[in-house]
Amino acid sequence: MTSEPKLGVLFVCLGNICRSPMAEGVFIHLARKRGVLERFDVDSCGTGRWHVGNPPDHRAVAVAFRRGIQLPSIARQLDPKTDFKRFELILAMDRANRDALLVAGAPPEQLYLLRQFDRTTEGHQETGLEVPDPYFGPEDDDEGFERVLDMLETACEGLLDALTEDRADPA
Ligand code: 4NP
Repeated sequence: MTSEPKLGVLFVCLGNICRSPMAEGVFIHLARKRGVLERFDVDSCGTGRWHVGNPPDHRAVAVAFRRGIQLPSIARQLDPKTDFKRFELILAMDRANRDALLVAGAPPEQLYLLRQFDRTTEGHQETGLEVPDPYFGPEDDDEGFERVLDMLETACEGLLDALTEDRADPA
């Protein structure tokens, strides 16, 4: 029996300890619930390298855990030599990450802001399509991470709708 090749989906932020590992965990969680996880090769990375080898931020782990979502990621930096071949779809969390990806040689036709797939953002300017960085929020306050997780759930539902309708365009 031959299996279909998997579609590579890479989530990218700056540090790879907050937004993109949360996006990766949410996508895996939702794809598993829909019974389509085996169709995808899912990973995340950062454009920066400060946190390479680290698990996600404890606030990200806590808010995800409360919703039954695991975050399997260990931080790594983008590898332009292999990532643009392995991953057909590259989802940046904000415009600065997207610009860094373009500078690193990401093919523009493979590159999106993740929230372009969020149907609630239709008609928004690009500034309204960013996932804000919760890292510099209070150490003992998960509220910023909860808001980011809400956004990621909505965007990943839209992304999965697009991908399972055999359509890779934003909503
Ligand atoms: P992330 O958040 O890009 O969502 O992982 C950040 C984590 C760490 C830093 C910046 C953003 N930092 O400067 O260390």
